Amino acid sequence: KHVAVLMGGWSTEREVSLVSGHACVAALTEAGYRVTPVDVDRNVSSHLQALAPDVCFNALHGRFGEDGTIQGLLEIMGIPYTHSGVMASALAMNKPVAKTLFAAAGLRCAEGEVTTRKALAAGRTPDVPYVIKPLNEGSSVGVSLVFEGDNQSFSDADWPFGEEVLVERYIPGREIQVAVMGDEALGAVEIRPLGRFYDYEAKYTGGKAEHLMPAPLDETDYAEALDIALRAHRALHCRGVSRADLRFDDTGGAGERGFYLLEINTQPGMTPLSLVPEIAAARGIDFKTLVAWMVEDAGC
Ligand code: DAL
Ligand code: MG
Repeated sequence: KHVAVLMGGWSTEREVSLVSGHACVAALTEAGYRVTPVDVDRNVSSHLQALAPDVCFNALHGRFGEDGTIQGLLEIMGIPYTHSGVMASALAMNKPVAKTLFAAAGLRCAEGEVTTRKALAAGRTPDVPYVIKPLNEGSSVGVSLVFEGDNQSFSDADWPFGEEVLVERYIPGREIQVAVMGDEALGAVEIRPLGRFYDYEAKYTGGKAEHLMPAPLDETDYAEALDIALRAHRALHCRGVSRADLRFDDTGGAGERGFYLLEINTQPGMTPLSLVPEIAAARGIDFKTLVAWMVEDAGC
C-alpha cells in the first residue's frame, strides 16, 4: 500500500507537524508500507495527482490541515485519508462552535464567551482569573492566562489571530488528556507543567512538563474522563484517533468540582513528547501499530 504522509503546511503549527510527520513516516516504513512524505503547499493537489497514493496519512496540524479544508480536497480527489472527515474537523477546530455541540451533548465545558480584540484592548476584560485563546489555533499558540496581579493590558497589535477572541474562565486544578482510538477511549494522562501552564514550550521541550501515566485519579473520576472523551468524539462525529483536553477541578474552591472539557483535537500531535502515542503505548499499542491502525481505519 502506498501511503502519502501529509505534513508541514503553513499553519502556526508547521514545525510541530514536521516532527509528527517524520515520526509517522519512519514508523509506517517500518510497518512495511511504501511511504512518500509530502510537505504540503498550495500545489498539493497536483503533487497528489502525480503520486496517486492509496491513502493519505494526515500529519498536519492547524489551519488548512485540521479544519476540514484539506479533508475536502481529499474527498474531491477521492483519496482515503486518516483521522476525522470534513465536518468533524471543521467543528472541532472552532472552539466556540465545538463547545455549543458539547453542551448540547451534556458535556460541561469551561465557561466563556467570544469577544473582540477591540473590546479587550479597550479594557473590557472579564474577572480574573481568565484565559485568552484564538478561536482556531492549536498547541496553545496565542493562549495566555491572566491571574490576579497580572498586567491585564491587551495589545490589539500583538494579536494576529483575527477580530474575535475566546475568553474563558480559568479552571483551577489539574490538566487531564484522554486519547480516543476508534470506538474506545484508551486512557488518561495527567500533565503537570513546570511553568504556568501546558504551553507550546512545555508541549514540545523535554523536561518542561511531568506526564503522569495513567492519570492518578480515583476509579470513578478516571472512568468519567474516558467517558467524556468518547462522548465528545462522538458528538462531533470524529473518526479514527482524537484527543480530549480536560481540566479537573478538585481544589474545593468556588467552582464546581469535576471535569471541564476544553476541546478535542482531531489531529493530535504524534511527536516523541505527544500524548496520544504515550497513552497508546501504555495500553500496549506501540507507535508502529498505532499508525498502521490509522492507515487501515482510513478505509482504503
Ligand atoms: N495541536 C497539537 C498538535 C495537539 O493537539 O497535539
Ligand atoms: Mg488543541
